[in-house]
Amino acid sequence: MIGRLNHVAIAVKDLAAATALYRDTLGAYVSQPLPQPEHGVTVVFVELPNTKIELLEPLGADSPVGKFIERNPDGGIHHICYEVDDIIAARDRLKATGARVLGTGEPRIGAHGKPVIFLHPKDFTGTLVELEQA
Ligand code: CO
Repeated sequence: MIGRLNHVAIAVKDLAAATALYRDTLGAYVSQPLPQPEHGVTVVFVELPNTKIELLEPLGADSPVGKFIERNPDGGIHHICYEVDDIIAARDRLKATGARVLGTGEPRIGAHGKPVIFLHPKDFTGTLVELEQA
């Protein structure tokens, strides 16, 4: 059911410092910062030949990534995103197995303008999983 790895998202406290690390130290192309107030983050995309890394900095007072940074002051892997061909079919199949879909359970428009859902980390080996319509 799951297809390509779309991205790995890493929460960071300081987006400018993390951008410099990926651009200057690791030699990757890093996009301009994109504020996404509806998701409580500012994001940059690190473009790799086979996938993307998203660096997430908390934006606003009640950012879920802000709570993550409180627990992980050095930052860390926040979620991984797999592509699926049909997000509604994927969601319904997962719910039928008892997996928990976060929020309302309805797909929301994610960072790339495509529908996404998030799956509870306790159901997926301790990792927050995002599914994105391919
Ligand atoms: Co994501």
